[in-house]
Amino acid sequence: MNEPIVKTNTENGICIVTINRPQSLNALNSALLDALAESIENIRTDNEIKIVLITGSGDKAFVAGADISEMAEMNTVQALHFSRKGQDLLRKIETMDKVFIAAVNGYALGGGFELALACDFIYASSNAQFGLPEVTLGIMPGFGGTQNLPRLIGPNRSKELIFSGKMLGASQAEAWGIVNKVVEQGTVLDEAKNIAETMMKNGLTAIGFAKETIRSGLNMPKNAAILHESSIFGNLFSTFDQKEGMSAFLEKRKALFSNM
Ligand code: COA
Repeated sequence: MNEPIVKTNTENGICIVTINRPQSLNALNSALLDALAESIENIRTDNEIKIVLITGSGDKAFVAGADISEMAEMNTVQALHFSRKGQDLLRKIETMDKVFIAAVNGYALGGGFELALACDFIYASSNAQFGLPEVTLGIMPGFGGTQNLPRLIGPNRSKELIFSGKMLGASQAEAWGIVNKVVEQGTVLDEAKNIAETMMKNGLTAIGFAKETIRSGLNMPKNAAILHESSIFGNLFSTFDQKEGMSAFLEKRKALFSNM
């Protein structure tokens, strides 16, 4: 039987999504985008899943971009739909009240880099390479890269990367603030799992609201963002987790959050 192009495995609230087209360095074609969209929708509706780790199969690539052989045949309308399909998927990741961590185990190029950027943060193995090489193909990034990268590292470094198409190694990507942590090759998923397990012990409802407050606040004027923060902060005081977290501290015991 053929292996699925997207594999998911959930244990103790943490779901590992593995993009599985290693013969094409996990390049994103339409079928793979559809399969990923289905997995992400299943994750959205599964209340047991709180944290999602996305990685690529094999030791060479996370995702080496959108599938060039498929894109080569596209007309304008098809390319527009392809871009929207990728953007819709990545937007779902950005706006979902669950944590997404990209465990980048090799090349993260084009749509692969954009997928990693849509996650809440990136851990990378020392052999990881990041780049937006679209201009080397006569196109430009189309899955949110022209918007998400400048918001993360500023316009000037983004322009250098996008205009040159050059790749950044893992340590340079860490120095530029793209990657949170660089780890030894072969250990990135374990390292991502470790931080996910630490997060699982915390109030996950609060984490979901913090994610949304950070995301929406970055797109608001500061005054409105600060007011938004206070209102979400106040709302959390009607949760079970706030009562439990604070009682546990005062009673000198570990909090048992129920995410309510
Ligand atoms: N789309 C379609 N196929 C891709 C691909 C992509 N984005 N990236 C890699 N592949 C395929 C190759 O065509 C090759 O297939 P083949 O064995 O049938 O010829 C296979 O994956 C292995 O890639 P290969 O180029 O032989 O590996 P390499 O180690 O020599 O080079 C890369 C690795 C990542 C530098 C190179 O594959 C590359 O530049 N890929 C395209 C990156 C890109 O431009 N992405 C943005 C697209 S918008």
